[in-house]
Amino acid sequence: TALRPATTTTTPTAATPARQTEAPSAYQHRLGSGVHLLPQTDQLRALHTVVRDRDARREDFVFYAGRIIRLLTEAALNLLPFEPYEVTTPVGRTYRGLRFADNLVGVPIVRAGESMEAELRAVVPGIRIGKVLIQRDRTTKQPRLYYTAFPEDIASRQVLLLDPMLATGGTALAAIEVLRDLGVPEENIVFVTFITCPEGLAAVGDRYPGVRIVTSAIEEGLNENAFMMPGIGDFGDRYFGTD
Ligand code: PRP
Ligand code: MG
Repeated sequence: TALRPATTTTTPTAATPARQTEAPSAYQHRLGSGVHLLPQTDQLRALHTVVRDRDARREDFVFYAGRIIRLLTEAALNLLPFEPYEVTTPVGRTYRGLRFADNLVGVPIVRAGESMEAELRAVVPGIRIGKVLIQRDRTTKQPRLYYTAFPEDIASRQVLLLDPMLATGGTALAAIEVLRDLGVPEENIVFVTFITCPEGLAAVGDRYPGVRIVTSAIEEGLNENAFMMPGIGDFGDRYFGTD
């Protein structure tokens, strides 16, 4: 009941123990049905193994993180509304298909969220991109909002909110609040995040139960410095080379 896979669930094998496919049971009752965890395939875990290695070269981190971000992007697009749409095939028959029902906008939370922009642009050419610049105070870890830029009609768009890390949830809550103030319904927001933990999922789920969350990994939890464990370190610093 707690976790709904983005597509299908894989059967746990020796290489993919069940522990890796589910959040710690103590938190499960707090996770809403809006949490979509990518199927924990061996391929996905191999990709994660590269990027979680503290000794990973930056070009490997960027490349393999990009592959996971592509999977997340595709899973997020699967959650958007589609409407019936028919085309005529080259042999003159009708194909009763589907197309996106609503307009889209991608909103990376600057800075680290910008690491996810290219993969979204690669699959949705010409997509509109809003920006919200939020930085956590280095000591207090409290998020601060510095800058926003959005299309005027954002309230009527499906919003893919992008940030690779959902840790305490402070940043995500601040960004969602900005969107809600502009009139975006919770149900129109899909938060796409590379890695998260039960604390972050609960923070967003308690306050905004209508917001759906797509992630590739749910960690054990946070340490005293608000870092996820076992985690990936500081995604933005590793991706952009500022560590
Ligand atoms: C990081 C990360 C998230 C946020 C997650 O951003 O990119 O935005 O922390 O933490 P939270 O859930 O506890 O708020 P940071 O402010 O470190 O800056 P960056 O995006 O420039 O890396
Ligand atoms: Mg950030």
